[in-house]
Amino acid sequence: MTDHLTIVDHPLVQHKLTLMREAATSTAVFRQLLREISQLLAYEITRNLPMTTRPIETPMQAMDAPVLDGKKLALISILRAGNGLLDGVLELIPSARVGFVGLYRDEETLKPVQYYFKVPESLEDRLVIAVDPMLATGNSSAAAIDLLKKAGATNIRFLCLLAAPEGVARMKEAHPDVPIVTAALDERLNEKGYIVPGLGDAGDRMFGTK
Ligand code: URA
Repeated sequence: MTDHLTIVDHPLVQHKLTLMREAATSTAVFRQLLREISQLLAYEITRNLPMTTRPIETPMQAMDAPVLDGKKLALISILRAGNGLLDGVLELIPSARVGFVGLYRDEETLKPVQYYFKVPESLEDRLVIAVDPMLATGNSSAAAIDLLKKAGATNIRFLCLLAAPEGVARMKEAHPDVPIVTAALDERLNEKGYIVPGLGDAGDRMFGTK
């Protein structure tokens, strides 16, 4: 991946995203759409994975057939909303290793603080895909990527559903080596840090909390 930002403008992605944005969409439907859309986004973010070949026997003859090269990739969910994207991506890449990063915002310093960190071994040898549906201010995403780099990751991609220009700029400044794949780049953040037009709080919408 060379571009810093890829917007997946596939008609199915855009249609499903519109349904997800609608306030009237139920939790169950929202979750199902997120699962479907995450697979389409995963298709895009894995488009240029390194390949090799392996000799196989078809019922007809022997051939050298293409297979993925290298160690199993690592999917890292940024809690808690990342789990909604994770499920769909895992269905597409069932052998991926999985990690979790939990961060909360300190109300005084407003800085992200780590409360959970568990990632697969040998991150340095894997393609690492960090997933979080909403790239808003970019502060927690940039902090999560910092932690992954400290744990050894050198080849990281970031998968989200919606991005704000502010978040993309923050990530570009902090991690210019991390390509971002998203379904849409929205207008801006509002005064509370929500993406507009956006879809509201992704975690609340997928888990039915308020
Ligand atoms: N997180 C969300 O869930 N929604 C936003 O709009 C911004 C951050």
